[in-house]
Amino acid sequence: MLKSFDIYSQNNILKIIVALNLLLVGSGALIFINRIINKLEDREEQYVQLYARALGYVQTADVNTDVNFIVQEVLVANKTIPAIYVNEQNEPAYKLNIDIPQDLSADETKQFLRQQILEMRKNHSPIRVDLRDGDFGLVYYNNSTLIRQLRYFPYALIAILTALGLLAYLSFSSSRRAEQNRVWVGLAKETAHQLGTPLSSLMAWVEYMRSDPEHYEESVTDEIEKDVQRLNTITARFSSIGSIPTLKEENLNEVVTHFTDYLARRISTKVKMTVESNLPPTQVVRINRLLFEWVIENICKNAVDAMAGVGELRLRMIPLHNDEVAIDISDTGKGISKANLQKVFAPGYSTKKRGWGLGLTLAKRIVEEYHNGRLFVKSSEVGKGTTFRIVLNKET
Ligand SMILES: Nc1ncnc2c1ncn2[C@@H]1O[C@H](COP(=O)(O)OP(=O)(O)OP(=O)(O)O)[C@@H](O)[C@H]1O
Ligand SMILES: [Mg+2]
Repeated sequence: MLKSFDIYSQNNILKIIVALNLLLVGSGALIFINRIINKLEDREEQYVQLYARALGYVQTADVNTDVNFIVQEVLVANKTIPAIYVNEQNEPAYKLNIDIPQDLSADETKQFLRQQILEMRKNHSPIRVDLRDGDFGLVYYNNSTLIRQLRYFPYALIAILTALGLLAYLSFSSSRRAEQNRVWVGLAKETAHQLGTPLSSLMAWVEYMRSDPEHYEESVTDEIEKDVQRLNTITARFSSIGSIPTLKEENLNEVVTHFTDYLARRISTKVKMTVESNLPPTQVVRINRLLFEWVIENICKNAVDAMAGVGELRLRMIPLHNDEVAIDISDTGKGISKANLQKVFAPGYSTKKRGWGLGLTLAKRIVEEYHNGRLFVKSSEVGKGTTFRIVLNKET
């Protein structure tokens, strides 16, 4: 049964591996895309350099030279890099790949272009175009839309990967929980169902034996009837786990004392069992008696096991400040090490040869989900003993 616990810790490792992979993919993409962006930027800068040179050439070349190809090749071919040429009189003279809003007057257009130039200067310093007689113009430019979109890409990617990871994690853990719940309920219902038929025939047999006291000694019949009753109780518990159990107001002192009397008869006489109560004798709690008794039984059985059948088992009922009551169950057994404190409630965790590792899981589920209470290890010391605490809401 320890094995199935290992799967849980393996799941944690799996989660870490998945998270690390996501991180790796995210940062890998970031580095990769940054590299591409740098390369693209280099190319775009070269392109603008070429554009600047072409502009200079067009303006300084001999009148006879055919400069048309330059205009074709350079000025028209570039369709994505926004650029503005400011001439020697410091006027925006040409523009490339900039949409000017319609209905602007000439002055407004200039104003608009100057605004663009300010933006461009933030990203790139302008490229100088040398003209005749020491005059020069400047080409301002910005990144192409491609680069601007690429810059967002890694962040979008990381956001998507994180969302996916989160989704996977959530569905993973909720499906595991849902599956566990289905297993519980299925197991419990099936057991109750299977026990039902042989139980009713057993009861019929008991009746038969009772009607024939000459052949069947009465004390034996009584014993058998008690066992059948006990099986009946177990069946009832199992079937109530599958459905939503009904809670009823019960006197806590009475329930605990009554049930521990019954338990005391079933455990080793070398275990000294005591029940103390600091509650008012009329203290009422809302519980499902069958299931609550089951919880007490599971915890007490574990305690007896931990003491290897010899020691003290103490139950104490204590009022708490905030409308709650505590039921402390202490033993003088082997204790639980710090490392195992959390594990004891995990399904399948058992240190016993014949243990299912389900007792405490079920007990916690019953207390917390059905009774809205709490169940935890209050204290434990290796070699000295352990105290489990059940906390329930008080009915006032
Ligand atoms: N009072 C205790 N003192 C020391 N160890 C305990 C105590 N109660 C529980 N444990 C530890 O917690 C483990 C889990 O307990 P749990 O009741 O869930 O399963 P189990 O008793 O091993 O099997 P079963 O399903 O039959 O109850 C036990 O195997 C034991 O190692
Ligand atoms: Mg147990």
